[in-house]
Amino acid sequence: MSADQAAALIPHGATIGMSGFTGAGYPKLVPAALARRIEAMHALGDNFKVSVWTGASTAPELDGALAKVDGIEMRLPYQSDPVCREKINAGRMEYIDIHLSHVAQYVWFGFLGKLNVAVVEVTAIKPDGSLVPASSIGNNKTWLDQADMVILEVNAHHDLRLEGMHDVYYGTHVPPHRQPIPLISVGDRMGETTLRCNPDKIVAIVETNLPDRNTSFAPADEVSQAIAGHILEFLDHEVRKGRLPESLLPLQSGVGNVANAVMAGLQAGRFEGLTAFTEVLQDGMLQLLHSGKMLHASATALSLSRDAQAEFVDNLEFYRQRIVLRPQEMSNHPELVRRLGVIAMNGMIEADIYGNVNSTHIGGTAIMNGIGGSGDFARNAFLSFFMTPSVAKAGAISCIVPMVNHVDHTEHDVQVIVTEQGIADLRGLSPKQRARVLIDNCAHPGFRPALDDYFNRALRESPGKHTPHIIDEALIFLRGRGISA
Ligand code: COA
Repeated sequence: MSADQAAALIPHGATIGMSGFTGAGYPKLVPAALARRIEAMHALGDNFKVSVWTGASTAPELDGALAKVDGIEMRLPYQSDPVCREKINAGRMEYIDIHLSHVAQYVWFGFLGKLNVAVVEVTAIKPDGSLVPASSIGNNKTWLDQADMVILEVNAHHDLRLEGMHDVYYGTHVPPHRQPIPLISVGDRMGETTLRCNPDKIVAIVETNLPDRNTSFAPADEVSQAIAGHILEFLDHEVRKGRLPESLLPLQSGVGNVANAVMAGLQAGRFEGLTAFTEVLQDGMLQLLHSGKMLHASATALSLSRDAQAEFVDNLEFYRQRIVLRPQEMSNHPELVRRLGVIAMNGMIEADIYGNVNSTHIGGTAIMNGIGGSGDFARNAFLSFFMTPSVAKAGAISCIVPMVNHVDHTEHDVQVIVTEQGIADLRGLSPKQRARVLIDNCAHPGFRPALDDYFNRALRESPGKHTPHIIDEALIFLRGRGISA
């Protein structure tokens, strides 16, 4: 049926599980049709709204379209849409920011309430009714399983040769019946290549032929390259110290230009036989696979630029042997991340001198995107990096501060902080030792004197000498008025 007919089946107040992870595999037409319907209902005075759960961020056709018409009551988990961000920060949309690995199991546990509708993009429906997933899996297995009614978008734009790249593991159970997950190395397959769905629940099938978001990356700037350079030098150092094998350990990399600059550095560097255990596979990793530097990559989504997407399709048979896409409760599973010994690299907004990291908030009260998978990986990784330019807003704001105004990753979960200025290896250091290294190695020289001054006075004046602070002054810093270059 048409997208409009399908959208008409969604009731007011429904909680909808939509496919989509980092601009890949999201439904392309039904959300926009639903937004049109919501707008028409609002014009009639009917306050029609839905709640939207996804894998992670989607695209303007989904998050943007529904947020624009004030159609979202509640959204979870990660989003990065500018219109959503504006509505959340204006108090017009509720947002629950939870770890990506938690979403599916919270639904199975009944913690989030009933899922009414699933709207899931697939590559194909097979004769036996099983579904070939698209360019991401995200939480689709859980949506199809838990929702009362299912709307499928079958997108002819996806290459049918995607079949076989996915690994949908159905062995997960709710405690006390959980079993160990039989994944020993990154490239292992332990599940099925397709998704199951009870055909009785399918109320609509909508055909589409549209590409994913396919965002392009800006060429790596000097700052990204410097951050990447510090990380690569550090990895080299760890190999020389005998703490990492020559082929490193499975890499996890957040999204964005710095992440791609690290991948480009690995491409030019000496490491061979690399692997990745990550949630999103971007251009940089595709190039590493192409060149043979990387042997296998496990993820839940392919988030490629248009050029990389074309390259991927041209060589799909090659990549199908090397890439495994899994549900996000597997790609981000803390037990797997810890057992495989992942090297995690994630962006942040700011860190404080003791190593607490803020990944999500601006000015302590406004959301940027969300925690995404950074917590799943950072706490459980073998080695974990948080990276940021040392300054934001054209140098007006230091990203190393006395006290972060929101904590996503506590000092207990943060190992290595990197800016273009240098690297702070916080492992094995007490809070006061961490402060010294962070100020000296990572802060911008323009902000170092102010941070030094604060830290030295805190050492003298703080009543507690374990994590010295001058609380009143830290609060002024938090309001963004206490530190200037
Ligand atoms: N104070 C105020 N604003 C700041 C800031 C600071 N210390 N640091 C950054 N910003 C602003 C930037 O100016 C920019 O604002 P703009 O959009 O108005 O220009 C915005 O925050 C984003 O900064 P940018 O440098 O472009 O960030 P990025 O693309 O490298 O992303 C995060 C950084 C933290 C937002 C991003 O990595 C993220 O969402 N992380 C959380 C989720 C995650 O880690 N996912 C990966 C796990 S798999």
